[in-house]
Amino acid sequence: MRDSFNSNTILTGLIGHPIKQSFSPFIQNVAFELKNMDYLYLPFDIPPANLKNALSGSVALGIRGFNVTIPHKEKIIEFIDTLSEEAAMIGAVNTVVNDHGKLIGYNTDVTGVIESLMPFKDEIAGSIVSVVGAGGGARAVIYALIRHFKPMEINLINRTEERALALLNYFSTKMKYDSFKNYELFPPDNVNILKNSKLIINTTSVGMFPDVNDTITELEESFNSKQIVFDIIYNPPDSKLLKIAARSGATVFGGVRMFIQQAAKSFELWTGEKMPVEEVTKSLELYMAK
Ligand code: ATR
Repeated sequence: MRDSFNSNTILTGLIGHPIKQSFSPFIQNVAFELKNMDYLYLPFDIPPANLKNALSGSVALGIRGFNVTIPHKEKIIEFIDTLSEEAAMIGAVNTVVNDHGKLIGYNTDVTGVIESLMPFKDEIAGSIVSVVGAGGGARAVIYALIRHFKPMEINLINRTEERALALLNYFSTKMKYDSFKNYELFPPDNVNILKNSKLIINTTSVGMFPDVNDTITELEESFNSKQIVFDIIYNPPDSKLLKIAARSGATVFGGVRMFIQQAAKSFELWTGEKMPVEEVTKSLELYMAK
């Protein structure tokens, strides 16, 4: 890692609270170094009471932009000058660009979802999709599905009924979407819902490090060899869900690609340059395996 910075160094970063162990500083700083760019990415732990001041401070300091994580992704909208279409539709911002003092909010999680699902575009069109979870991750996934992949119907599976209903209501109001087939409470006791889906996406934190033995279902009969199973969890890169689904021959992939692609889009928004995605992925895989 480089060791000299000066007044020309352009600062970017991450705001959240608490800042849990995040791989974003690693990814962005590796990318800056690979491209020999005089940028630096730092994590900032900003409690909610300081959010507004932190944003004024970021403009005053000339910070080029930052990522936004829990708990600020929704709250930050009221302090942002302009929102991208995705951020406005999803109601959450994960990337901010400081454009000469004006703060522009984006949601690059959507880019991550689109890039992850793109190889399966033809299979997803006109098919049945099940989405597990009804939080911010689910919103990015459902927005990307509706806008770019045209599935025939979406099943929503969530532990808390009110949140499932709120999400259905959100998309039918915001996007006039009415092809939610049904919603199920978690865990789904009707195996057929998952079994009959062409694509299953886990957007919950179930199975995330350190709880790597958890999974949204233990039932191998939920899966088959014609399915695609996407777990947006990236740590571990191969969650228990993916291992179970793979045993039935399903095509499975985790959230590393989504994570890198959302970071790559943020990088591009701040610098105007492409992130060297393949090299960054290799570095991240080595780093995570340590
Ligand atoms: P994010 O913004 O990252 O999606 P979130 O808004 O906290 O995070 O949403 C997390 C999702 O994971 C929610 O759908 C949550 O279910 P509830 O709506 O019932 O809270 C789901 N989730 C988290 N832990 C879970 C668990 N142990 N079992 C089932 N669902 C869980």
